[in-house]
Amino acid sequence: MNPELARAESLIRSIPDYPQPGILFRDITPLLADARALHATTEALVEPFAGSFDVVAGVEARGFILAGAAAITAGVGFVPIRKAGKLPQPAAAVDYALEYGTATIEMHDDLPAGTRILLIDDVLATGGTLAAGRTVIESLGYTVAGISVLFEIEGLGGRDVIGDLHTVFRSS
Ligand code: PRP
Ligand code: MG
Repeated sequence: MNPELARAESLIRSIPDYPQPGILFRDITPLLADARALHATTEALVEPFAGSFDVVAGVEARGFILAGAAAITAGVGFVPIRKAGKLPQPAAAVDYALEYGTATIEMHDDLPAGTRILLIDDVLATGGTLAAGRTVIESLGYTVAGISVLFEIEGLGGRDVIGDLHTVFRSS
């Protein structure tokens, strides 16, 4: 790992028993607040997929932060995949289970058919969020060019659910 990424990783804070007992919350806000760390991690999220995608999509809420930055880095547009009820004209919806709770995500269908989308999120835990994101993208006739995540929590089965994906940092 290059020194800038190692430095960025050191800024991720682990908070026990948040938001519920037994959950070890990975807080990336110190990393986001640091210019060098934000730049290095944004580059690392998109670099393996250079030239292979047309837009970046992120899942509300934390996925928006990194996906928006990644879109700027890559010189492409950003598409939001939002929690239910937030988009004015949702074209598809997918229900999914979270590590803690359940949710529904929705997406518009304003892109041309076959658009290649790089799907980005902050954390991979059980994989439910990214699996739902992939499903909603594909249900609208778009192609998932890749899935890229800042932090993979190993041992919760996310990689088994998602299959091939790129993760910048990982921890058991
Ligand atoms: C969090 C995190 C990931 C997801 C990972 O989202 O941002 O999107 O959990 O867990 P999973 O792999 O088990 O799906 P959450 O919806 O809890 O919060 P957010 O709205 O702040 O992104
Ligand atoms: Mg999230």
